Amino acid sequence: MAEDTVVEGLEGVAIGTSRIGYVDGGNGELYYCGYSIDELVEHTSYEETMYLLLNNTLPNRQQLKTFEEHLAKQRMLPVDIENMIDWTAEAPPMDVLRTSVSMLAAYDEEPNNQSQVKDKLIKIAAKFPTIIAYTYRSRKDEDLVKPDEELGHAENFLYMLHGDEPDEEAAAAMDAALTLYAEHGMNASTFASVVTTSTLANPYSAVTSAVGALQGPLHGGATEAVVDMIEAVGAANQAEPFVQQKLDEEEKIPGFGHRVYETVDPRCKHFKAHAQTIGGDETRKRLDIVDALRTAVEEELGDKGIWPNADLYSGTLYNALGIPAAFYTTMFAMARVAGWSAHVLEQRSQNRIIRPRIKYTGDVGKAFIPVEDR
Ligand code: COA
Repeated sequence: MAEDTVVEGLEGVAIGTSRIGYVDGGNGELYYCGYSIDELVEHTSYEETMYLLLNNTLPNRQQLKTFEEHLAKQRMLPVDIENMIDWTAEAPPMDVLRTSVSMLAAYDEEPNNQSQVKDKLIKIAAKFPTIIAYTYRSRKDEDLVKPDEELGHAENFLYMLHGDEPDEEAAAAMDAALTLYAEHGMNASTFASVVTTSTLANPYSAVTSAVGALQGPLHGGATEAVVDMIEAVGAANQAEPFVQQKLDEEEKIPGFGHRVYETVDPRCKHFKAHAQTIGGDETRKRLDIVDALRTAVEEELGDKGIWPNADLYSGTLYNALGIPAAFYTTMFAMARVAGWSAHVLEQRSQNRIIRPRIKYTGDVGKAFIPVEDR
């Protein structure tokens, strides 16, 4: 039998073919179904991007309207999930989100109906903002704000979160944040959703797996770590000594480095521009610190291929939108559910169960010793 090839972290391994997202790491470009993220973030809404990812084509006006209305109608949660969110108000928001998605399966009469997978994925995605906003309000002991079908996905989220309709710039910034994080090729959480769906498990299981994988600080959790870092640095002139100390201690600096990008992540400039547009003095101070960290890290580690990733800037935008740090990973999830859903559908269209090997390095043929003799 051929020797197993071990590729640590699956670096450079393609697990299949896809027409959804392309991260051009060498040139620092990102495409969804062939369209540059730079164009999509400027000209499309998150709903339009989600339609594109799910259908591999941009919608016409009527298709978009139908899709928007369908999403908007699916926002309400079963009352038991509202109660569960209340009971777990002290739990980390990603744990509440993961549990809520899993629990939704119990309110679907046919969770395993294989012909309704796409529709179920859309219904799950439609509920993400409601789950997250309810978690936020429940923690603050404030009344839940029911979704408003007249508002777009991003706008309605901010409305449910803060209790009043956001201004146009804030809604546009939230929409951009969702579009920018909607898809990113075969990242860890997408892989988790694809592995789960490859067993033909239902969409609730696939999305639950993905939320779980996104939680860690090496993936979605990095944004929160960046904000902690900005607060620890405190002022732009402290960035350089801070970076030096981290490097001396051989610690990784959150918001930098990426498995695929060999240059600056193309999403950084958009997060920064929206933060500049909507933010005030506090945001400007945070951006100064981020820029100073970036200069220091690029000087020290640019040669090694360590460049800023999107998480370096996204937290500053969320902060300007009044979203607390504990919720940043859920913002990522609320966006990426579009990409997870697209990959789940693509995997199902060409499915083979994902079952790799692991190279065994233990012993074989050991003499068994009964428990009383050990
Ligand atoms: N700060 C300092 N050094 C870093 C670094 C960072 N953020 N990211 C990578 N490096 C260094 C590693 O220490 C390693 O150095 P070595 O070869 O001397 O041991 C080298 O660069 C390769 O890093 P590695 O961890 O093997 O890369 P990876 O592809 O396995 O990991 C990340 C990619 C994103 C997980 C990693 O860059 C990281 O942990 N970044 C910080 C967390 C983060 O921002 N995550 C969000 C990603 S979108």
